[in-house]
Amino acid sequence: MTIATYFWLCTMAMLGKLFADCPYQACICVSDFIECSARSPILTEIPALISTNTSGLTTLDFSANQITAIHSGQLPQKLTEMSFLENPITTIDDHAFDDSLTTLEKLSFSNCGITRIPTALYRLSSLKMLHIFNARITEWNTDVMKNIGPTVEELYLMNAGLSPNPDWLLYFERLKMLILDGCSIFSVPDDALHKVAKTLTHLSLANNNLTTIPSTIAELRSLQVLVLHRNFISDISSLPNSDQLVTLSLHNNNISDVHLLSDKLQSYNESLITVSLNNNFFVEFPHLDFLSQVGVLDLSHNQISNANSDLFRGL
Ligand SMILES: *[C@@H]1O[C@H](CO)[C@@H](O)[C@H](O)[C@H]1NC(C)=O
Ligand SMILES: *[C@@H]1O[C@H](CO)[C@@H](O)[C@H](O)[C@H]1NC(C)=O
Ligand SMILES: *[C@@H]1O[C@H](CO)[C@@H](O)[C@H](O)[C@H]1NC(C)=O
Ligand SMILES: *[C@@H]1O[C@H](CO)[C@@H](O)[C@H](O)[C@H]1NC(C)=O
Repeated sequence: MTIATYFWLCTMAMLGKLFADCPYQACICVSDFIECSARSPILTEIPALISTNTSGLTTLDFSANQITAIHSGQLPQKLTEMSFLENPITTIDDHAFDDSLTTLEKLSFSNCGITRIPTALYRLSSLKMLHIFNARITEWNTDVMKNIGPTVEELYLMNAGLSPNPDWLLYFERLKMLILDGCSIFSVPDDALHKVAKTLTHLSLANNNLTTIPSTIAELRSLQVLVLHRNFISDISSLPNSDQLVTLSLHNNNISDVHLLSDKLQSYNESLITVSLNNNFFVEFPHLDFLSQVGVLDLSHNQISNANSDLFRGL
C-alpha cells in the first residue's frame, strides 16, 4: 500500500467515524456525542431524524439554538444526556423523552418559556441531574417531582420561577447538590431535607426571600458548602450541625446577633475556610478567633463602629 493510499484510507475512516449514522443532517457526530449546538443556520425546530440506528451515541447537545418545541419521536433512542440550554422552549410533548425513559441521566434547559415542570419527565427512571436556569415555572407538578425525586442527585434550579414553599423537596431522597437560587422562596417545609441529612454536601438558596434559616437545614450533617446570601435572614439559629462546613456565604442579609453567630460557628472551628458576612447589620466584631482554618472572612459593610469597619481579612 502506498503512503498516499494509506492516508486516504485513514481520512475516509475518520470521516466515516465523524459522519456516519449521525441522526440529524444538520449536526455532527463525534464518538458518543451528537453535536447540534449553535447551528448555522440556527435551528428553530428539531430536525427530522435521518437515522434510527444511533447505537453508541448517548449525548445530545441542542444548546444555543432557537428551538421552541420538543415533540414525541424527534429524539434518538437511549440517550444518557440531553441539553437544551439557551433555547426558548415553550412546548414539550408528554411523550417527548419516551425513547430514553430508562437511560436518561442528565437533562438541561435554560432561557426557556416553560411554566410547569414537564409531564414528559414523569417516567424518567434514571434521572440523576436536572438543570433548569431562567424559566418561569409556577406549577411544580407534584406527581412528576414525586416520580423523579428518588433518583436525582443534582438539582439546579436558578431563576427558574416561583416556588414560595418548595414542599416537593421531600421527594428528593438522594440529593448531593441542591441549588435553588432566585426562586422567590419564603420558607422551606420542616423536614424537607430530612432524608438527605447525610448525603447533601452543597446547598444554595441564594437570592430568595428567607427571613430565617429554615429549621431543616440544622439536620444536614455532611454539608460542606452553604450559600444563603441575598435573603432577608436575621435568625441564624438553624445553621447546620455539620463539622465539615468549608464555605458559608451569608452576605447581604439582616444578621445582627454576634453572640449567636460565634456560638453557631464554633462547630466549624476545624473546617471553615471561607465566610462572607458583609452587608449585614453587625454593630460589633463577632468573636471568631476559634476558626483555625479560615482563609477569607469578609465583614465589610456592616455597622461596626470600630476603626476597621471595612475590614476584609485574608488571613
Ligand atoms: C447499528 O450500528 C452499529 C455500529 O454503529 C452496528 O454494530 C449495529 O449492527 C447496527 N444495528 C443495526 C440494527 O443496524
Ligand atoms: C422577594 O425578594 C426579591 C428580592 O430578592 C424582591 O424583588 C421581591 O419583591 C420579593 N418578593 C416578595 C413577594 O416580597
Ligand atoms: C432587619 O432587622 C431589623 C432589626 O435588626 C428589623 O427592624 C427589620 O425589619 C429587618 N428587616 C427585614 C427585611 O427583615
Ligand atoms: C474545635 O472545637 C472542639 C470542641 O470545642 C475542640 O475540642 C477542638 O480542640 C477545637 N479545635 C481546634 C483546632 O481548636
